This record gives sequence, structure tokens and C-alpha cells, in this order.
Amino acid sequence: MEYIYERIQKNYEDFASGRVLYNAHGTTAFPVRLANEIIQRCFQILEAKGSKGPYSLYDPCCGGAYLLTVIGILHSDKIRSIFASDINCDVLGVAEKNLSLLSANGLNKRKEQIKEYIQLYNKVSHIKALESAERLSDFILGSIIEKVTTFQSDVTISNHKSEISNKINIVITDLPYGDIVTWRSNSSDPLIDFFENVFEILDHSHSVLAVIADKSQKLKHEKFKRIELVKIGKRQFGIFEPIIHSN
Ligand SMILES: C[S@@+](CC[C@H](N)C(=O)[O-])C[C@H]1O[C@@H](n2cnc3c(N)ncnc32)[C@H](O)[C@@H]1O
Repeated sequence: MEYIYERIQKNYEDFASGRVLYNAHGTTAFPVRLANEIIQRCFQILEAKGSKGPYSLYDPCCGGAYLLTVIGILHSDKIRSIFASDINCDVLGVAEKNLSLLSANGLNKRKEQIKEYIQLYNKVSHIKALESAERLSDFILGSIIEKVTTFQSDVTISNHKSEISNKINIVITDLPYGDIVTWRSNSSDPLIDFFENVFEILDHSHSVLAVIADKSQKLKHEKFKRIELVKIGKRQFGIFEPIIHSN
């Protein structure tokens, strides 16, 4: 894959899971460069359609919200609201903690916590984490994020909160696959039901869907036009827009 926006591999250690961003058993991280590339492709598609933001962003398989938090930090000047849900209640606490880092208040609390660790253990890793937290603070100086909502939901069932219906500009998600996280669903075809339910919550005039998955899952659905399908290493990602039929 050729990077269009993140052409240069930078040092993303400030975003390392467990450093300032939280990690926990059962949650996964995501390559920051790739996340930043995909979200910028989404912004570009929306901008080309005349939608300059600010945007609402939703990850319906959010896990510990690593992906959303990274995107939120990097693009806090373009995003007004963030929604995060997962079927697994156990990861939502981590998601909330990570997403709290998108506010100055949350990041300051994290800095205080890291300072306590420095006093207690005097470890280089904690000193470096504090330096990272200071740099992350700079990213969110111009933040316009007003609202962050986390809730439990099975994306293969149509039970989305009414408050997000038809309001989402960007759905981005890293689908369950592999050893750590697999689909949890009673659906005979979770991927089809995923597309169906995401369709319902998108703002149909201004929205895109970015789906990241392993290469075994067929990323297509009749309600979506696939704009891109890109293979990268063990992953693939597809970017879609909803197909709207005018009556
Ligand atoms: C690859 S992980 C996502 C990691 C996340 N992007 C992050 O940055 O932390 C996939 C997630 O899908 C969740 N999941 C599995 N089945 C689901 C379902 N039916 N509805 C919603 N989430 C589901 C898993 O619990 C897991 O947290």
C-alpha cells in the first residue's frame, strides 16, 4: 500500500499502549500510522462531498478505544462527538479511561497518576511517559471535542441508541478477528448484520464507513458503495459510502 497522507514513518511512541494510553487484558492496539492514514482518507472523501466537519465519529467494536483515542488526539480540531461501543462490558472501562485522555482534565489526571508512579518507583519508563503526556497535551490544545459517549452494544443486532441514529459522519472500526478477539454474536452472518446496522446510524448525506479486518472477511455489502479496498500486511481495509436511493 502506498501511503497518501502519512508518507513518512514517524516516531509514534507517545501513543504506545500502556505508556499514556491505557491497556488491559483483552484489548488490542492498532498501528498509529495506518489509523492516521485511514482517517485522513475518510476526511478527504467527506470534504470532496462538501462536508468540511466538524464530524461525529463512531467505533461500534471499540474494544479499549485505542483506535478512537489515537484518532481523537491527532484530529481533535475536526471532531465534535465520539461514540464508542462494544459487546464486551469488560473492555468499556478501559475505553472510557482512554477516551478521557481527549480532554485536558483527563490528561492532567493521567499526568498526576504518572507523577505518583515516578515518586514511588523512580523508573525511566514513567519519566518518559510523563514527557509523552506533555506532548499529547499539545495535540489537544485546539480540541473541539464536546461529547464522548461509551455504551455496551452488539453491532450485529439493531439496538443502537436513538441518540446516534442518522447522526454519524464516520464509522471506523477494526473488526474482531484473530486469537484475542473474535465475533461474539448469535448471528449466522455477523459481517452482513454489521453492515446493515451501521447503515442505519449513518448520516446518509455526509458519511463514510472505514472497516479494517483480516484478509478472510469479505468487505462488501449491497447498501454500500466500496470506494477503496486496500491490503496491507495481514490486514485489509475498505472505505465505503452508503448508497442512497431517492424515491
Ligand atoms: C479488534 S478489537 C477492536 C479494538 C479496538 N479498535 C481498539 O482500538 O481498542 C474487536 C472488538 O470487537 C468486539 N466485538 C466482538 N463481537 C462484537 C459484536 N457482536 N458487537 C460489538 N463488538 C463486538 C470485541 O469485544 C473486541 O473488543
